[in-house]
Amino acid sequence: MALYSEKVMDHFTNPRNVGKIDDADGVGEVGNARCGDIMKIYLKIDNGVITDVKFNTFGCGSAIASSSMATELIKGKPLDEALKLTNKAVAEALDGLPAHKMHCSVLAEEAIRAAIKDYYDKNGIAYDKAQFPEPHED
Ligand code: FES
Repeated sequence: MALYSEKVMDHFTNPRNVGKIDDADGVGEVGNARCGDIMKIYLKIDNGVITDVKFNTFGCGSAIASSSMATELIKGKPLDEALKLTNKAVAEALDGLPAHKMHCSVLAEEAIRAAIKDYYDKNGIAYDKAQFPEPHED
């Protein structure tokens, strides 16, 4: 069996929503200390809904595929729904990732969370801190 699903290969070789939003409403950047990979997510938000999203990922193929899929999953969604996106859901949408690559999908979950928190902070919007656990160091 191939190590990577067709969907992973598709989102790696043809990633969706790559780039930067200059006037983004929220920006989140996270990294994995162990592999050194970095992911940055930009959000445009209107009335609590994510109207546009772009990403830049300096990382492995699974991290790029995860970012691409995650941006597709949250585009057009309300913030509270985007906050519920888990790395498992991203990996499932990609038809799975090898066990030792699951941490790459964690970056996508954390980058989205960080971008939403950035938006809340910049706009003085109150939020439940429990929704934003510190990114893990793994
Ligand atoms: Fe670092 Fe995939 S190996 S995010």
